[in-house]
Amino acid sequence: MNLHQIELVQQSWKKVVPIADQAAALFYERLFELDPTVKPLFRGDIKSQGRKLTSMINTAVVNLGDLAGIVPAVQDLGRRHVRYGVRPAHYDTVGAALLWTLEKGLGEAFTPATREAWAKAYATLAGVMQAAAAESAAGPQSAPLAATT
Ligand code: HEM
Repeated sequence: MNLHQIELVQQSWKKVVPIADQAAALFYERLFELDPTVKPLFRGDIKSQGRKLTSMINTAVVNLGDLAGIVPAVQDLGRRHVRYGVRPAHYDTVGAALLWTLEKGLGEAFTPATREAWAKAYATLAGVMQAAAAESAAGPQSAPLAATT
């Protein structure tokens, strides 16, 4: 991501923050519409889950200019997601639901350049989460098996 894209994400996110609860509700509605099979993975209260999600996005957005500091936390998040039953393919669906929600929430402010910038920001985060998840799946116990196949 270049500096301009980081700014686009940060500026547009500021407009979402005041409507974060509604945006989160819209996001899950859209996510479950796109893939009803992920719904049972969410066992807790969806409103508090939405708050955790927007707070994590907020941390990522604030730190976009220097992600190194939050990489370990994002890796941990990725590893926890394996335990929630999240699979690599789910990341595309969640990305689509996120972009859709931002478009609904921001309207005309969600320009093609802003969309592109958000797509990159999401891909970066999702990439770090998935890489950590894949590494933890290929831990010491599964290594010998992997070597024979
Ligand atoms: C950039 C991508 C994502 C971010 C920032 C994110 C963020 C979070 C956060 C902060 C939590 C709270 C629990 C924790 O910290 O461990 C959480 C839980 C969860 N996330 Fe994600 N997530 C992402 C992608 C996904 C994807 C792709 C799925 C697939 C459907 C997913 C499904 C879940 C589920 C099922 C839970 C647990 C909910 C529960 O216990 O009720 N997340 N996520």
